[in-house]
Amino acid sequence: MVLIIKGKRGSLKGEIEVPGDKSISHRSIMIGALAEGMTTVSGILTSEDVKRTIEAFEQMGVNIKIERGKVNIEGVGLKGLRKPNSIIDCGNSGTTMRLLSGILVGQNFHTTLVGDSSLNNRPMDRIIKPLRKMGANIQGREDRFAPLEIKASGKKLKGIKYRLPMASAQVKSAILLASLYAEGQTCIDEGRTTRDHTERMLNYFGYSLCSNREKIYMDINGHLVGRDIYIPGDISSAAYFMVAATLIKDSNILIKNVGINPTRTGIIKVLKKMGANIKLINKRKINNEPIADIHVRYSRLKGITIDEDIIGTLIDEIPTIAVAASLAEGETTIKGAEELKYKESNRIRAISSELKKMGANIREQFDGMTIAGTKALKPAYLNSYNDHRIAMALSIAATTAEGESKINGHNCVKVSFPKFYDILFQLSS
Ligand code: S3P
Repeated sequence: MVLIIKGKRGSLKGEIEVPGDKSISHRSIMIGALAEGMTTVSGILTSEDVKRTIEAFEQMGVNIKIERGKVNIEGVGLKGLRKPNSIIDCGNSGTTMRLLSGILVGQNFHTTLVGDSSLNNRPMDRIIKPLRKMGANIQGREDRFAPLEIKASGKKLKGIKYRLPMASAQVKSAILLASLYAEGQTCIDEGRTTRDHTERMLNYFGYSLCSNREKIYMDINGHLVGRDIYIPGDISSAAYFMVAATLIKDSNILIKNVGINPTRTGIIKVLKKMGANIKLINKRKINNEPIADIHVRYSRLKGITIDEDIIGTLIDEIPTIAVAASLAEGETTIKGAEELKYKESNRIRAISSELKKMGANIREQFDGMTIAGTKALKPAYLNSYNDHRIAMALSIAATTAEGESKINGHNCVKVSFPKFYDILFQLSS
């Protein structure tokens, strides 16, 4: 299906909320299911990806009810999951597959995990290797892709010392969740910062672990106790509107209740460094996660260098940053972002080829992009590559371009932000 976006219809004005954080939503279901007692989650993201996680735990006997916008999870404790009677389909969701694998290697039953054609071709050796080091019995197609077969290993898992070879919160979290079932301490050396929602949530549910700079030490023999959780708005979803309001003349918007965990706010740092007018107001903390309202006004941007130290804190926002950089004055260089090749699409290739069609001066590099800003983008026929973040970033680019752009395959936004177009059209009308 093709969506028509009419660009340059005027400034963006108003107050919006974006849906709950995707990473925290997945973790609330997983950790709530493994806790003892009830967990009630408010503000969960109701998207395809999160539905996959909910269905996986329902298949394993966890009672999950959605009532008046809240999700009630009857936790079964660390040892209470039951063997599902069919394979578990993770759809397009890498977080479901990788984090769930960490939990499943600790069970005494056999499971098979599959994904859609995109997920089945994303690297899984990154979790297979450390989980096997812990003693897990996990096999993948060609030893590196899904479907994954996870069998009871017959022995208790053991804690490991592991240095992450790539900056990945999904890999880190798979190891941390497997450690719940291990004897002996696990210590993970992250190298580069990635989102720490798993660590924060385990702590909030009463499990001891401590992190000290890049190292995380997981305690042994802890347990999890059900809690109430409020999920803040997803900064990755807010990012599209932060960039749109910055680029479109006279815009002035307020995005309420957004998570501003420092492992996720690279986008704000980068946009401010480019000259954006962004203010955080009403800062507070809820269930171990900082949140704020984000006020964004139109501003002219200049090109900057974004290097590898900050990449882990803005990895999902790079396609949108590429849109901002295409319209900034001067050159922007993005380095150390090779991980983008292993997302729902090869995002370096996807965003570069589509923005080029709109007249952007963008060069693909092996680990990022170089973008020389131009005054305006022109409308074009654009392809989403069936990747939600590409579809949304291109929609923002199209909103800035005078005339009609077409986006092929825009429906994939349903995996993380089903109401994206409603909010975009509401703000620009
Ligand atoms: C996520 C981690 C990131 C991110 C993904 C969600 C998570 O992936 O791109 O959208 O919830 O842990 P990687 O850990 O593979 O970088």
